[in-house]
Amino acid sequence: MNDFILKNISFSYPNSDKLVIDNISTNISNGEFVCVLGKSGCGKSTLLKLFAGLNIPSKGELLFEDNIIKSASLDRGVVFQDYGLFPWMTAGENIMLALKQRYRNRNVNELKEIAIDSLKQVGLDDKVYNTLPKYLSGGMQQRVAIAQVLSVNPKVFLMDEPFGALDAVTRAKLQDLILELWNKNEVKKTVIFITHDVDEAIYLANRIIVLGQSPSKIIYDKKISLNEKTSRENLYTDEKMMLLRNELIQIINKDISEKTLM
Ligand SMILES: Nc1ncnc2c1ncn2[C@@H]1O[C@H](COP(=O)(O)OP(=O)(O)OP(=O)(O)O)[C@@H](O)[C@H]1O
Ligand SMILES: [Mg+2]
Repeated sequence: MNDFILKNISFSYPNSDKLVIDNISTNISNGEFVCVLGKSGCGKSTLLKLFAGLNIPSKGELLFEDNIIKSASLDRGVVFQDYGLFPWMTAGENIMLALKQRYRNRNVNELKEIAIDSLKQVGLDDKVYNTLPKYLSGGMQQRVAIAQVLSVNPKVFLMDEPFGALDAVTRAKLQDLILELWNKNEVKKTVIFITHDVDEAIYLANRIIVLGQSPSKIIYDKKISLNEKTSRENLYTDEKMMLLRNELIQIINKDISEKTLM
């Protein structure tokens, strides 16, 4: 079943003539882990906000579960690169904010239990509940942001370069956490994960989409079956993955050199 159907989507920001997304059509199936790669400024965040309902297409139709997306929804949880936490609220209060919207009829104690459980799922202590974001490391803040999205149990995870600001070790840990969360459900959540890191895409995705430079179109789209995937240790020695890496780098560089000559 398709979660998202994109029919000839184009997008320009209001008050701007510049076309950012140029006539994209594709489907995203339920349970896919799609990584979207592309050079800075090509329109990745713009596209993610279209999936979220924070941008609405200027032309074309974008459907989620057969309904045209008209606004944001808690069914499509977004994790941003800058964690998206309100700095004046504790980690717990940030999570509760989303939970109160999701479960309007439940009492505060029940919601707090869900919040603490989601902190535990991302490997954080329940003490973090009462801590302001500024006292948490970047990696911990990003875990809180993931916990916030997890707590409301969305159907889809939309992630915009969520680990871009983190060191390599923390980044690897959080990549594994996301894969673990994705793998653990029998009915897998759909994940759309924006990155400009080819290796991150190869490690995480079961489908890789490359956006060309602005105005962006899909210039590459490939599924990677679960039995083709490799462990982190073999990521740089597995022949298939090395070929895939070369192919992706060539496609991205070719697009950059062609568009720069124009
Ligand atoms: N709110 C906005 N109003 C007008 N133009 C915008 C707005 N946000 C982004 N743009 C423009 O849209 C284009 C695509 O931007 P977008 O942020 O989607 O790129 P990106 O691929 O996410 O880049 P990066 O990898 O640097 O995050 C850019 O030319 C940018 O200047
Ligand atoms: Mg971006």
